[in-house]
Amino acid sequence: MSGLAGLRSPRPALQQPQWNSQESLSAVRAELGERDPLADCSVHRRLHDQLTEVARGEGFVLQAGDCAETFSDSGSDRVMAKAAQLDDLSQLFENIAGLPAVRIGRLAGQYAKPRSELMETLPDGRAVPVYRGDAVNGTEPTLESRAADPKRLLAAYEHARTALRTLDDEVGDGRPYTSHEALLLDYEEPLTRVCACHGETYASSAPFLWIGDRTRQPGGAHIAWADSIANPVGVKVGKAADHGEIAEIVDRLTARRPAGRLSLIVRMGADRIGHHLPQLLERFGDRVIWICDPMHGNTIKRATGQKARLLPAVLEEIEHFVRILFAAGLRPGGLHLEVTPAAVDECVEFPSELCSPAMRFRSACDPRLNVAQAQQVVGTAAKLLSAG
Ligand code: PEP
Ligand code: CO
Repeated sequence: MSGLAGLRSPRPALQQPQWNSQESLSAVRAELGERDPLADCSVHRRLHDQLTEVARGEGFVLQAGDCAETFSDSGSDRVMAKAAQLDDLSQLFENIAGLPAVRIGRLAGQYAKPRSELMETLPDGRAVPVYRGDAVNGTEPTLESRAADPKRLLAAYEHARTALRTLDDEVGDGRPYTSHEALLLDYEEPLTRVCACHGETYASSAPFLWIGDRTRQPGGAHIAWADSIANPVGVKVGKAADHGEIAEIVDRLTARRPAGRLSLIVRMGADRIGHHLPQLLERFGDRVIWICDPMHGNTIKRATGQKARLLPAVLEEIEHFVRILFAAGLRPGGLHLEVTPAAVDECVEFPSELCSPAMRFRSACDPRLNVAQAQQVVGTAAKLLSAG
């Protein structure tokens, strides 16, 4: 089955790299179009069925993983450690909340990042393009490494496939579904396929994809692409979201589609969610699954400029989220977290810790919860849910 390598969503699309060679890009797109699907269509259909149950209040999405996976993360030990962490968190959740968790990893494809700035200024005053994820360029702050190389899209496919093999071969009952931000259309479009059994168009890069807060314009390329596929999708909704725009997105992505198709992943910040979420629930209440991302609206900086997140703010946003959903007569549908099994102190408990640099900051992008922090967050959410 060959890909729709020629398919192109409306351009210009936001947050796309300036690839260093159009010729290489065309060759890479053609090659990706010939590759096997990473996830065949039966997987997203199975997930969709489970999300339909979540929409009915009979399950809860636990979506978690790195902010940015690196290619070096695709080795079997790391993949198994991440799957085991998600499995532990899911069991913790299920034991407390008494509700099945649908496990979705930010895994096997989370290789591209949207960025607010085009350039980064180094301590010596030189400017280099920002790191956009291993599928685009390298972390090393040199002009050479930061050039956007289309061949990295093929490497992303290979690393995703390696990680998926580990999940298939080594991880039993705890196998999560995989997901990533559908950001790079030059990756997603050639991997968009037509299923031979049902004739439907679907994304074969992962069963679940989400569109980020920076690229979800209702008339934009990413939403047009999301509308073209049958997979369940998520859309991030930040504090600056225009409610009319969200209405257009909801109308477009849920038209003639069963419940469970669209999750709105709200990431407003502990101090803003109380203002925005009730209005959104009033308009779109039971048409979507409501997932809380308590990470991205609560990102702050240390004195050193390094990003951080305060655990109390993360917990506070979750508490508001659950209470607001219950007050509207709705069921919270899930949690979207950035976590790692690695020993890190990227997120902290006390503001006083922000004055010194993190002893162990290993993320290629945003700060992640470590094992104990993730357990605290999931345990708190589960308790709030079981009290409702
Ligand atoms: C992310 O999930 O890492 C991300 C960039 O999110 P958002 O689009 O919500 O900023
Ligand atoms: Co992030």
